Amino acid sequence: MFVAEANPLNASPLIFPALECMHIVGFAVTVGTIALVDFRLLGWGMRRQTTGEVASDLAPWTLFGLVSIFFSGPLMFSSDPDMYYLNRSFQFKMVCFALAILFNYTIHRKVALGGGSEGLGIAVACVSLLLWVGVIFGGIFIAFV
Ligand code: HEM
Repeated sequence: MFVAEANPLNASPLIFPALECMHIVGFAVTVGTIALVDFRLLGWGMRRQTTGEVASDLAPWTLFGLVSIFFSGPLMFSSDPDMYYLNRSFQFKMVCFALAILFNYTIHRKVALGGGSEGLGIAVACVSLLLWVGVIFGGIFIAFV
């Protein structure tokens, strides 16, 4: 049985909100940059660049966001793991997150860097956006489920 009180993160009321701010910046950058690549795949703007150029230019920012998420997320989780891992919305979020990351660095990356038809690009962009929206909604509803 995890004792939340013993966790140094719970020592000050400011640590959790500070981590949550870091978390929000992290996923705004991660999901924001991936969504821009998806919009390019859908033909929504950025037409002076190829999808491959957009994806390559934004890839370092996506990683920066992920570093911030992987720092803040598990730390927030450690503030009360018994509550989180039993939370249906958190479970849904983590499944979407695992699928979204796997998809992003396999099929999505291959198609964004120029592999496949326009129709495939549109399908890949839709799956990607759906998965990341699932992660965000899963995160938001943690507090309400
Ligand atoms: C790109 C991936 C991720 C996105 C888009 C995301 C999104 C969110 C969102 C929208 C919230 C709610 C923020 C709020 O209500 O203020 C949240 C909270 C949270 N996330 Fe994530 N998250 C991601 C990855 C992770 C990971 C990898 C973990 C690791 C365990 C994690 C753990 C948490 C925890 C513990 C909370 C706090 C819930 C609470 O009590 O309010 N997140 N996340």
